[in-house]
Amino acid sequence: MAERVAIFDTTLRDGEQSPGASMNAHEKIQMALQLERLGVDVIEAGFPIASQQEFESVQQIAATVQKPGVAALARAVDKDIERAAAALEKAVSPTLHTFIATSDIHLEHKLRMTRDQVLEQAGKGVRLAKRLIGRVEFSAEDATRSDLDYLVAITKVAIEAGASVINLPDTVGYTTPGEIEEMFRYVIANTPGSDRVVFSSHNHNDLGLAVANALAAARGGARQIECTVNGIGERAGNTSLEEVVMTIKTRQNVYPFETGIVTEEITNASRQLSNVTGLPVPYNKPIVGRNAFAHEAGIHQHGVIASRLTYEIMTPESVGRTRSELVLGKHSGKHGLAKRCEELGYTLTGEELQRLYDRFIELTDRKKEVFEDDLRVLIASLRHENFETYRLIHVRTSGGDPTMALVKLQHGEDTIFETATGDGPVHAACMAIERITGVSGRLSEFQIRAATPGKDALGDAHVTVEFEGKAYYGTGASTDIIEAAIMAYLNALNKYFAMTK
Ligand code: KIV
Ligand code: ZN
Repeated sequence: MAERVAIFDTTLRDGEQSPGASMNAHEKIQMALQLERLGVDVIEAGFPIASQQEFESVQQIAATVQKPGVAALARAVDKDIERAAAALEKAVSPTLHTFIATSDIHLEHKLRMTRDQVLEQAGKGVRLAKRLIGRVEFSAEDATRSDLDYLVAITKVAIEAGASVINLPDTVGYTTPGEIEEMFRYVIANTPGSDRVVFSSHNHNDLGLAVANALAAARGGARQIECTVNGIGERAGNTSLEEVVMTIKTRQNVYPFETGIVTEEITNASRQLSNVTGLPVPYNKPIVGRNAFAHEAGIHQHGVIASRLTYEIMTPESVGRTRSELVLGKHSGKHGLAKRCEELGYTLTGEELQRLYDRFIELTDRKKEVFEDDLRVLIASLRHENFETYRLIHVRTSGGDPTMALVKLQHGEDTIFETATGDGPVHAACMAIERITGVSGRLSEFQIRAATPGKDALGDAHVTVEFEGKAYYGTGASTDIIEAAIMAYLNALNKYFAMTK
């Protein structure tokens, strides 16, 4: 029987460290529930010492999810560990994940500690974590640039102190598949007690090797892979969950492992994450990109019609891409809509369902066919509204050079409108918003694409706006693309308010 490789999902911790990819507590819970449906073994919910907000969202996730374990991150220092343990109090199966750097570069320039001091602190940290929470994961940060025998020494200390999982991360995305496989083999073979723990691999994608490195680590003996949906994360991101899982599933002859992932939930997880964070999925991204199963060349199309085996190594159905056809029509009832949302992985309150239904009916007046991606973007924009400081009532633009915009916003009980001119409709509308809110933002990225096929498609806008030097992503959707862009701008602005005010 194939050996099990556990999937440790860090979308809500390392993934959230993607610049601008911040999620509020409600969005994190929705994402955690989707990860539960996806079948991950552990959800790393956050880094509780980072802020009160972070502490509370770890607490809420710990109290909500039932099946997967919940992990919280802590440096190997008492106050971090105690805070993480407190946040995990209600978790059914908690893991306290504590780390300290082990490479000489980090010891010298960051920690300013000797190797012996780090060994002592690691042991002390794991012992405290073990006293507070039964299951402890220890990470040797920057393991892949650490001395191998020192890694053996610190792994031995962590095991003796009670760690159940030893993680050897490629923190800076520097290693290669051959090297990391060898590193795991060496540490496992040379550390007394290594048979009592699970070895874990956590990789960053700076050289585009994160997935290959995670798979090589598994060949070297790792039985847990740490990854994120869509591969989001610090800098170039982390190991992409969908790529690593589908490689294992598709190439059993090379990677004879099994995971507990319900692969049919992959597309739901990917879309939901993109909609809440505003981080678009590149069209050519393996598994989850729009083009991942699209055959363009005539020769390929003919081949696939004759037999899928000619050009398809896995089916779109196996990753949950079957139901992307027409969803519902104008005469579909609220019940049908609710059922479809459930299939897409959304749990809506009665009030949310009513609002969604109203939007849906409005959309069917403007658009003949409604697809599941339309529903996803509608749900995302509806959920953003739950946390809005300012809500768009309407935007009108006219003229050419300069363009004039009239923007009307709802702020609490007040309705405020302003006009402004600018170079084009989006600029003019942003200037009007700046007059209303008194906050100036720099629109550094702006993309708009059709959520679904057809000339009457819903425009799905993604923006990055900098407020006080920090980037915030925003999304918005409408059949009117100026309105979609302004909704996305306001979504980013509302995130800024939620994080800072
Ligand atoms: O990249 C890294 O080393 C980490 C650790 C904290 C596990 O994220
Ligand atoms: Zn990391």
